[in-house]
Amino acid sequence: MALLVTSWSNGVQSVPKDYIMPPERRAGDFVTISKDIPVINLQNDRVINHGVPDEMMADMRVLYDEFFNMPVEDKLGVYAEKFGKGCTLYTSGMNYAKEDVHYWKDTLKHPCHPLEEHTPSWPEKPTRYREEVGKYSIEVRKMGFKILELIAEGLGLNKGHFEEVGREQSMAINHYPPCPDPSLAMGIGGHTDPNLITFLQQDHYGLQIQKDGQWMGIEPIPNAFVVNLGYQLQIISNGKLKSAEHRGVLNSTASRTSIVTFFAPNPTLPLVVEPAKELVTSTTPQVFKSYLYNEFLAEYLAFIRKPGPRNGTPLDPYRI
Ligand code: OGA
Ligand code: NI
Repeated sequence: MALLVTSWSNGVQSVPKDYIMPPERRAGDFVTISKDIPVINLQNDRVINHGVPDEMMADMRVLYDEFFNMPVEDKLGVYAEKFGKGCTLYTSGMNYAKEDVHYWKDTLKHPCHPLEEHTPSWPEKPTRYREEVGKYSIEVRKMGFKILELIAEGLGLNKGHFEEVGREQSMAINHYPPCPDPSLAMGIGGHTDPNLITFLQQDHYGLQIQKDGQWMGIEPIPNAFVVNLGYQLQIISNGKLKSAEHRGVLNSTASRTSIVTFFAPNPTLPLVVEPAKELVTSTTPQVFKSYLYNEFLAEYLAFIRKPGPRNGTPLDPYRI
């Protein structure tokens, strides 16, 4: 538990050695902050007027500030030494003990659907947690499926095309305490989400996406969701939609919290994912292979967990 950044970082004057990223993994000097990420292009897009009430979104931010600021004893019930199945509060990346260098973040994550099955594993404190987060999950699910139907329509697919591959819903709440030297440490390293689609709300700036080989900052819009397309959407759309690599940087004054909802295929089923048949034509040949999602996910996790410099992307083995 002492490992949680939240539990030791308050007031530290310098970045501990095992949080200092090698130079190539640091955020770098300068990135443009984009204020005009398009609202309708649906690639790392931001949605407003999405149907999740502003008040509910704000309540979530207050709730999670409270959660991460609770005394350590109150968090023991969900704490785990590493990322695992079910509800866990863990620190840094997916396996703290095996990392060469750590990320300056703590994460609470849990499944959300079906609610009745999962709420008993959620934190007991703050006492309103299960009720409030339960209601929020339902609203985010409505929005998520509305957007997935629009994407399906836009691609020329049946409205329900993503019903099965988007059925699983989970949340990760990332908390990044202030860091005495944000140029040396990282919040979350560059990655592309492995799932179908991700909706992220945040209180402060820190999210960056890779565009045309450059990192670009995303200016938060109050009560908007950032929409990240995951690898599954890129594959099912036969490459028409692209998932973008993104990462989270730190700041020295405020803690930052991102509240993230993922829609994904069931990771325990041998579910086949492949480019939609409608999108494979004589002029647009199939560019990704068919595969089992659970196998894809296992390979993705192995890629992400591997220490040291990375070669290529987890998508490469699936390209035709
Ligand atoms: C994630 C993620 C970014 C952030 O949890 O997958 O990309 O800003 N988070 O916390
Ligand atoms: Ni992500």
